[in-house]
Amino acid sequence: MYDTKYNMYVRKLISHVAKKPEYWHLAHQCEELTDESCYALLSESLKKLDVGIPFEYIVGWTEFYNYRFQVTENVLIPREESEILVEQAIMILSNFTKPNLKVLELGVGSGAIISSILLSTSKSISAMATDCSPEALLEAKNNSIRLGVDITFKQGDWWDALNSNEDGPFDLIITNPPYVGTEKINERNILSGYEPSISLYGKEPSQSGTNDAMKIIRGASAWMEDNGTLLIEHGFNQRKILSDFAISKGLFVLEQIDDLSGLPRVLILGK
Ligand SMILES: C[S@@+](CC[C@H](N)C(=O)[O-])C[C@H]1O[C@@H](n2cnc3c(N)ncnc32)[C@H](O)[C@@H]1O
Repeated sequence: MYDTKYNMYVRKLISHVAKKPEYWHLAHQCEELTDESCYALLSESLKKLDVGIPFEYIVGWTEFYNYRFQVTENVLIPREESEILVEQAIMILSNFTKPNLKVLELGVGSGAIISSILLSTSKSISAMATDCSPEALLEAKNNSIRLGVDITFKQGDWWDALNSNEDGPFDLIITNPPYVGTEKINERNILSGYEPSISLYGKEPSQSGTNDAMKIIRGASAWMEDNGTLLIEHGFNQRKILSDFAISKGLFVLEQIDDLSGLPRVLILGK
């Protein structure tokens, strides 16, 4: 499994350093690279791959929901399972009849989720996104400008980033908070060790990994429109604790979604 993935990355790196389309290597396996500098860059990139630096950080971009996002070590590499948030958000937005909708993403990272939503809906949306990391916000802003989507960015700790007189209430709130518990710290198969610790474990790591999701759920009602929705991604073993917590804070569990591997992944909460 590791070898297959490693070999795929090596081939993709060859296309990358040769400045050829992504799948060029498949049709040109016996071709030699003509430019000497390609070999130097390839050898440098392979050394990085060998020490475990993710492919996406080496090349500086990743694909998410069929769009390309720039990524550096300041942001989490968006995961395929987070595309569920985009799909669900698009479906929820399509049911609104209001002329303009307010959408918020908390913990925006690279901006992949909110930008993909805006690029994939025909609804008129005022979009806002927050993060506590100024570096992540800059990266999300650059991606939004490159992709031509309009987002207002705010820096701060979860709800504290917002101004209660001007921002909200929101029709839709989306978040993929840090949810890795400290017991998973050594699981190198899912965590490269190169991604920002705050995006995986949060500011105050906990054993269960649910601290940040709970902070978000605790404050959500005040920022949601009466028929608003909160979409939250979570760890596979956190569904029950977060559903119970949301109900205790006066929210309804509208839906619980599994990812493609059948693992509990997303909660859809209503007010
Ligand atoms: C799991 S990452 C998600 C990034 C992006 N939304 C995605 O799915 O690729 C969590 C994000 O929340 C941000 N974050 C962590 N703690 C935060 C806090 N206390 N307040 C606001 N943002 C926070 C991190 O900087 C990070 O960008």
